[in-house]
Order: sequence, then structure tokens, then C-alpha cells
Amino acid sequence: MMSSVVISAAAITSCKEGVAPAIPTDKAVEAKVEEVLKGMSLEEKAGQLVQLTISTLEDETREALDPAKLDKIIGEYKVGSILNVMHDRAHPRAHTAAMVRQIQEKSMEAIGIPCIYGLDMIHGASYINEGSLYPQEINLGATFNREFARQMGHAMAYETRASQVPWVFSPVMDLGRDPRWPRIWESFGEDPYLQAEMAREETVALQGGDPNHIDLEHVAVSIKHFMGYGVPVTGKDRTPAIIAENDLREKFFAPFLECFRAGALTAMVNSASINGIPTHANAVLLSGWVKEQLGWDGMLVTDWADIDNLFQRDHVAADKKEAVAMGINAGIDMIMDPYSPECCTTIIDCVKEGLISRERLDDAVRRVLRLKVRLGLFDNPVWDKEYPEFASAEFAAQSYRAAVESEVLLKNDGVLPLKGTERILVCGPNANSLRTLNGGWSYTWQGSADDYVPQYNTIKEALEKRFPGKVSYVPGVVYEGKNWQNDVGKGISDVVSAARKADVVVCCVGENTYCETPGNMDDLNLSANQKELVKAVAAAGKPVVLVLNEGRPRLIGDIEPLAKAVVDVMLPSNYGGDALAALLAGDENFSGKLPFTYSKHINALHTYDYKVSEHRETMEGSYNYDAVMDVQWPFGFGLSYTKFEYGNLRCHSERSEESHFTASDVLKVSVDVKNVGERAGKEAVLLYSSDIVASLIPDVKRLRGFEKVALEPGETKTVEFELPASALAFVGADGRWRLEKGDFRISCGGLGVMVGCTETKVWETPNI
Ligand code: BGC
Repeated sequence: MMSSVVISAAAITSCKEGVAPAIPTDKAVEAKVEEVLKGMSLEEKAGQLVQLTISTLEDETREALDPAKLDKIIGEYKVGSILNVMHDRAHPRAHTAAMVRQIQEKSMEAIGIPCIYGLDMIHGASYINEGSLYPQEINLGATFNREFARQMGHAMAYETRASQVPWVFSPVMDLGRDPRWPRIWESFGEDPYLQAEMAREETVALQGGDPNHIDLEHVAVSIKHFMGYGVPVTGKDRTPAIIAENDLREKFFAPFLECFRAGALTAMVNSASINGIPTHANAVLLSGWVKEQLGWDGMLVTDWADIDNLFQRDHVAADKKEAVAMGINAGIDMIMDPYSPECCTTIIDCVKEGLISRERLDDAVRRVLRLKVRLGLFDNPVWDKEYPEFASAEFAAQSYRAAVESEVLLKNDGVLPLKGTERILVCGPNANSLRTLNGGWSYTWQGSADDYVPQYNTIKEALEKRFPGKVSYVPGVVYEGKNWQNDVGKGISDVVSAARKADVVVCCVGENTYCETPGNMDDLNLSANQKELVKAVAAAGKPVVLVLNEGRPRLIGDIEPLAKAVVDVMLPSNYGGDALAALLAGDENFSGKLPFTYSKHINALHTYDYKVSEHRETMEGSYNYDAVMDVQWPFGFGLSYTKFEYGNLRCHSERSEESHFTASDVLKVSVDVKNVGERAGKEAVLLYSSDIVASLIPDVKRLRGFEKVALEPGETKTVEFELPASALAFVGADGRWRLEKGDFRISCGGLGVMVGCTETKVWETPNI
């Protein structure tokens, strides 16, 4: 079904007849685009389609731009976009701003068209020295609190603009459905709905309310990586995925669709392949699903050197020229060809030789120009504006609160909260590292927070501040070198001696930082050295609080029973240590829940929306339909210092007050949540549905709604959801959305009610 790659004329125009455009067309924007396009030469057009990395413009100090290189790349090749940071590291915002100004001046003088600069701002202004960082997306997923996605989006946009940069390669929305894959921490988790909700909030916060007019406090997004990148068969980065077509539309496309509809202006393409077709050559997905079916007039940019991958790695093209034509004809509008300004010449050759039509060339150029017009770059290639909120105390407070709500308490045999009188031993390779609290995309690509922001507290430092005079520290295992894979045991016996003198051991294990391919690995188990450390301290007989500081759920099935308490802090960023100290002390309460399934066995890596046949078998060998997966902790799991009781789950159709509904109905669901413990707390209320009988094997359950509520002890709140019946539809074997007659179970907080759909509806449109 996906093999046809004939580009249709409709994909070239910005909007297919009868399809309401995803981003409303603005006449003034279009007029400006046409006016600029009219006067452009072939060379200028080709240049607009190419993006280079900043190192191609650096002088030998790597701290400044080389005027001769500016002349060549902007002046001669007329390259229209630059990305990345000088010297591969973060800079003060004034430095970044001055560098972008210089490029813009050159671009306006030489081409009369502004350059568009893009940066990987992933969890805040990741590449600005003094910018504000928030917990990584995986942590924001764990908060189940949309407010944090909005706050991070706002701060990221504001601080990026303050650095004269108008474009971010965010949000990341690859479904984190395979824990072996090294990028799941860049996403909001494994579930399409959670991902879609958080990414939409972030997108709107980044771009502001009107995608046709982005103001000086907002930036364009590049939602990424379109799509199916997160489930490579091997678990290794940038390797092929095999995805059933119904899953592709129903699950993988869903978050992208939500963001396209919310006005996302650009998207970056998946570096790998789906079902044998490199995504960069997949006209059905790029031109068909996105541009044609959605009437989306935004811009598609490649990922890093991925046109080269079409011939060098994937062998679907014979050479560069064929690869360039293949990508652009599939729907690519801008080629991130980091080091090769010559790509401009290849595009020109392709057009001259008829490999790329003038029509497709102009369409791609229009999309690039439209982005620049929408960003106001023609009027303001650079801007003089004050940004008084830059690195504000408010952004810092938000980052702290997000960290508090994202750290997940997975086990507590009563050792937490700490009383404050205990002698605490802190150990483990992650105990005294800001780098590991932040993860990758933090000041540098692979993450190196310790080198930039020593003023923030590591876990050890935060505990020392919270419990003065009570904390001792012996690492026991350390990371050596810059490679996350290398940890070595250094004095595990010293840790054991220190443990004997302590009352409780906070053992901080996990991973060193990594990003993309350097994070590939062969064993999901926590490293042998770290497991040995946990076993040794547990043998000392003191209660162990196991702190997991990791970008993906490393298997710990054999050491989990040795811990009295387990907290997964994931990658909570610069305030993650403070948040943890406050949570362990009981100054704050836990409210995070896992946004992914924490697997227990290497041969049983699951997501929560599995099929019934994947249940564990009973002793007799027959299926046990009531059994659950044998996982370490399920999706949505997380404890608190208080307890919540759910009651009175109701679900009826808005129209009839009855438990049956039609495809056009809206279901009203409500549930009472009571804090029956003695402490105030927040609860993420998760709403699921299960399709009892369907023509394709149904998932056991699917997340359909979530709300975070704060409850004082004894307080009850009624949480309400509005669920359009169409939200219960699935994509059938023919690729079409369908809602089938029959029963559905709506469940929340361990309660369930049955409702029935009275009709079968199949949608004619590809998206509903
Ligand atoms: C990554 C992208 C990133 C791009 C530009 C690639 O290697 O996959 O996520 O946006 O580089 O830095």
C-alpha cells in the first residue's frame, strides 16, 4: 500500500480541493511569498532548499565567523538556512545573537532573503549557557500535567527568540515504545494520546496562537521525527522499523496529526525506514498523508545528512543526484546537508535535467519562504527587543515544580519519607552528577551540564543541604571517560563499610548521558557493576532507597527486591536533585506516574496496550484472560505518601443520559476521587477504554483522557471527561477508521463501567 511514490499535483499545491487547510491560508502571507518568488533565480531557489551546519562558517578559533566563508556559502551558494551551535557547545545568548545577526546581515545584503536559523532546543534553551532548562520530555510525560508542557514551551520560545533564533527542532514526539531505543527520554512516553496532548500544548506554547504571524516571543516548531522512528526492530537508533499500516495511522501518526492541526509550521523526517522504505523517500507519507490529506502548507526538513543516507546507507538511490531528486520529489522541502553547500549545485542540476520539475521546485521554495514570512523575518531579520524574563526566577520555579511532579515513587516499604534523624549514606555513579540529571541535549549534544552550571545541586548536594551533618558520600561505581557505557567499580567495599555506619543508603544508579546513536547498547539490564553495588550495600543490612536516574527503563528485576524504596527520577534536569531531596524528606509529595511500561524481562518488552494473547499463560498452559503482563511496573504506576480512593464512575451519552451511544455522540464520564490519607497530594486520574469485540484484535486498553487534581486530606473532587465516541474508533485492516457496534469498558482508578455502541461507522476520510 505504501509503495506507490508517484507525486500528485495535489501534493504540490498547498491544499487539496475539499480539504480545509491545516494552517489557515493568509492572503498577505501568500502575496509576499509570490512577490519574492517571482524575482528569484534558479540558484537562489536552490539555496533556499539547503541547510548547513554552523561549523561550515566558523573561523579557525571556532568562536567567530569567517567572512570568506560567509561570502562563499551565503554570497555564492545562497544557502537559506543554518543550524547548530559553534564549536559544538552552548554559548551565552549574546554570543549566539551576535553570530545570527552577522549571518542575517550577510543574507539580506547578498540575497535579500533572510536566513532561517534553527537549534535543537529540547528541554528549554538547551544550547544557551544561562538559559532555563526543564525536565526532559519523558519527565513531563510522567507529570500527566499539561501545564508543564505549556510552561516549558513558553520559556523555550522566549529564550530562543532572545538569542535571535526563530526556529526550534522540538517537540520530539516519537512514541517511546521500545525501551532499548536510545531516544525514548526525548519523548513524552509510549502512549499516542499522552504524546499528542503534551506535544500539542508545547507546540501552541512555542508558536503562540497564530501560526501565520509568529511574534517576537515565539518560534516555529519542527515536530519530529516524522514518523515511526521510535520502534526500530533492532532497538538501535536509525535502523529499520516494521509497522503495520493500521498502527501507523492509529498510533504513530496521531501525535503528529494533533500538532499539524494545531498549526505546527515544520516537521523533521525520520532518519530511518518503515517497511523497507526510507522515510525520506516515502512520497505516500510525506506528500500524501501530510501535505495532500491535511492540506498542510508547512515545510518538511530532512534530518542530519539523510539524503546522503538514501544512497550511502540504504542503497535506494545510486548517487547523490538521484537521492536529492528522490527526496525532493517525495516531499522534502529543505535538505539538512550539514557540510555540503555543493548540494545547491546538485539541486540545480536536478532541475536542469528534469529530475525535479520546476513546479515541485517552486512549491518547496514557497514553503520555505512562507515559513520565513510567517516568522516575520522579512520585516525583522534581526530584532531589538528586551527579554526581561530571560532565565527568570519564575522559569526556575516552574522547572523545580515540574521535577517534583515527575519523579516517580515506585516502591515504599515505609522507609520514606525520611525522618530527618537518620545518618544517610549516598552512593552510586549518579549521586553527584548534574550531567546525568539532565541527560543529552543539555548544553552539548551528548550532555555536559557539570561543565556549565555547577551552581545547581546534584542529588548528593541537595541531600546535604536538606539534611545538614547527616550525609556521607562514597560513590562505589563511577563513569569513566565520556562514554555512557563505561562504568567501573571503585571501592565498593568502602561503600559497604560506610553503609554499616549509616541508617539508610540512598543508592543512585542508572545511566550516564547519551543522545542518538552513541546511546545504542546491547543489554538493557542495568550494568553489572551497578547491580553489584546494590547487592553489596543491601547485604550490609541497611535499608536501601534505590534512585534510578536513567533515560530508559534499565532492567532491575534481580535487585529491586533488595530495595526498601525505589524512585525513578529519569532526567529531571537542574532542579532534579532539590526535588528529590524535598520528596525524600516529605516536604513535597510524589505525584508522578510512569509514562511507559517498566519491563522486567528482556524477552518480555511490552507496552500497556498489548493484545490479550500476550497475557502470561496459566500453569495449565491455557490463556488466563484476567492475568496481566509480568512487568516490573505498569504504565501509569506511581505511589504517593497519601492514598486516593475512586468511586462512582459514571459514563453516559451526552444526548440520552443512557449507557448506549452512536458514533456522533459525546460520552460524559465522571469519577469521584477522594484523598483518604493524611497528607495533601496530587493524583493523575487516567481514563481508559477497552473495545470488547472488534474486527481487528483489540488492544486490552487505551488511554483516552487524563487530568491532574490536587486534593487535601479528606477532600473529594469529581473529575469529568468528555469523550467523543469517535475517540473509541480504531483503524481497520483496510486502513480506514471504524467504530464498531458492541460493548466498551470505560475504566478509571480500578473501576469500570460498560457502555454500548449501537452502530458501526466507517469513515471515508483518512483522518477523523
Ligand atoms: C537528530 C535530530 C536533530 C538534528 C539536528 C539529528 O542527528 O536526529 O533530532 O534535530 O540532528 O541537530
